[in-house]
Amino acid sequence: MRLTRRFLAAGLAAAVAAPAAAQTNVTLTHALPLDSHYGVGAVAFKETVERLTNGRYRVTIQRNDNEREAIEATQIGTQEFTITSTGPVGNFIPDTLVLDIPFLFRDYAHARGVLDSAIGQDLLAKFSARGLVGVAWMENGFRNVTNSRREVAGPADVQGLKIRTMENPVHMRAFQTLGALPTPMAFSELVPALQQGTVDGQENPIPVIVANNLNQVQRYLSLTRHVYSPAVLIGNPAFWNRLNAADKAAFQEAAKAAVKANRDRVTADEQRGVTLLRERGMTVRESVDTAAFQAALAPAFEQYRRQFDAALIQRIIDWKPGS
Ligand code: PAF
Repeated sequence: MRLTRRFLAAGLAAAVAAPAAAQTNVTLTHALPLDSHYGVGAVAFKETVERLTNGRYRVTIQRNDNEREAIEATQIGTQEFTITSTGPVGNFIPDTLVLDIPFLFRDYAHARGVLDSAIGQDLLAKFSARGLVGVAWMENGFRNVTNSRREVAGPADVQGLKIRTMENPVHMRAFQTLGALPTPMAFSELVPALQQGTVDGQENPIPVIVANNLNQVQRYLSLTRHVYSPAVLIGNPAFWNRLNAADKAAFQEAAKAAVKANRDRVTADEQRGVTLLRERGMTVRESVDTAAFQAALAPAFEQYRRQFDAALIQRIIDWKPGS
């Protein structure tokens, strides 16, 4: 009994004398509200990192709706991670631009399958040559056109519309080819631009339109699903390369948890989003002439085949589960 007490006292003294385990603070940014498909991914990442490292790493989640700036900050190391759409990523890693080609992916299963396959993993490996770490593919979703002027049912309806696009040359080329006036800007500038009429419309996935209440500034939503918008979790190389093997495994596990939470939320938002946006007053056009959009984009497709690796484009199109 006396021995036990002495033992406990010694243990307590040692604990008091021991230096507190060092804690490393890590910042992760993304462009959307906490209650969004990026927000839940970020929280899953944070919780998994902190749990698996017993709190030796603390993750602070911050919002930055200028994705280009967030990538730059991750590159220089003023933050450790960012979740971003591929919108501005092609300006850093041109190989990823192939993923931004309109109508490349048939559906979510196709897009997720390709990104999880060797094709997606090879593209992630290209980030390191550009001073970034491609940690994991996440998801933004299939993009749809919204605007304040008219219902969009086919390509003729976008002609002459001033549409905000991401700072992405592949998307801009597509809208130019359709006869719209693409106006690239950061997401942070979008709502004022819509309010002031600098642009008539924009395009984003249902989860973004819902999370950001874009129904307050746009009347018409058309389910054009004209392009799949991947997202990616990017890390700072100096931070990443300093992690020991066990800690790196913890961050990789956290990335997997983030991908799962993010994709599950996209699926849920796609299921309930249209009803929700109708309830919020949007006029939603569900049937869109996809074949006519694809035909009108033929000159752009021709250019993408010349600009990018045509064999890779074909591998993506031909991808099937198990291939
Ligand atoms: O439109 C964009 O810029 C992106 O889709 C967004 C909303 C920042 C999410 O990545």
